[in-house]
Amino acid sequence: MADHGVPEMPADVSHSEPTLPGATYATALPLVKEALKRPKCKVIVNALGTPPADVIEMVHESGRLIGALCGKVKQAVAHKNAGLDFVVAQGGEGGGHTGEIGSIVLWPQIVDAIAPLPMLAAGGVGSGRQMLAAMSMGAAGVWTGSLWLTVEEAEGQPAQKESYLKATSEDTVRSRAWTGKHARLIKNKWTDAWDDDSTPTPLGMPMQFMISADARRRTEIYAGVEKAQEVAMNPVGQVIGQLNQVESCRDVIYRLLEEYVDALDAVNRKLPSD
Ligand SMILES: Cc1cc2nc3c(=O)[nH]c(=O)nc-3n(C[C@H](O)[C@H](O)[C@H](O)COP(=O)(O)O)c2cc1C
Repeated sequence: MADHGVPEMPADVSHSEPTLPGATYATALPLVKEALKRPKCKVIVNALGTPPADVIEMVHESGRLIGALCGKVKQAVAHKNAGLDFVVAQGGEGGGHTGEIGSIVLWPQIVDAIAPLPMLAAGGVGSGRQMLAAMSMGAAGVWTGSLWLTVEEAEGQPAQKESYLKATSEDTVRSRAWTGKHARLIKNKWTDAWDDDSTPTPLGMPMQFMISADARRRTEIYAGVEKAQEVAMNPVGQVIGQLNQVESCRDVIYRLLEEYVDALDAVNRKLPSD
């Protein structure tokens, strides 16, 4: 932080950024309970592992569905065996916490491993053509993240959005520098510094997050994203390389549908007519 001109957090500045992620039982449970109080909440989805049995029971008793993300077949099978209703399979190109196996290899393996449970395909979906690819491999639908970082409605700061619009698919990296578990982030001075041989190996989750949460407060809240974009942490997938303009959510949905139908027509035209 000091190398890049990001000042220390002044003692009198208050903030709400947590120093522990919602990735422990103690920190996640109050969030689940809060979500279940809200009628508009229709499903609960867990990242980074199979939810505990009591959480699954609590969600089912409330009449809702529960699913979980995964990046490996064995994780998907564990989700199924625990009684989840669906699985989100995220290929390594996806943004945020992600595994190593690419979507086109992962999705069909997981569809087969958990059938007849539905699989939602995640990781690298930013167009209707990519949706069609997922559906052709047996997905029941798609699950997207990075696609929403560049929309008009997204909360990102202008400098952050600018860096997304400029990024190519080569500008992301899987790194443990944010939370201690591998997550795909925009490659910048923060991820480079943790990759440097002279730097300690990142700690495991949740300890690394306690270090990076402090850095995040200093960049985002005190120094301001404009000033500190080079060292800010931005979870983003490789699909960011094809997101080069600001669209409204409404336009994104219509674009996905139109592209999907056009791509399906194009595939159908390739079939012999008789
Ligand atoms: C900024 C950002 C934050 C994310 N945070 C979470 C999260 O807290 N929990 C989670 O399950 N997945 C999270 N993800 C992963 C998404 O749920 C989704 O699986 C992923 O973005 C799909 O790949 P894509 O980025 O190529 O669309 C996040 C993704 C992004 C881009």
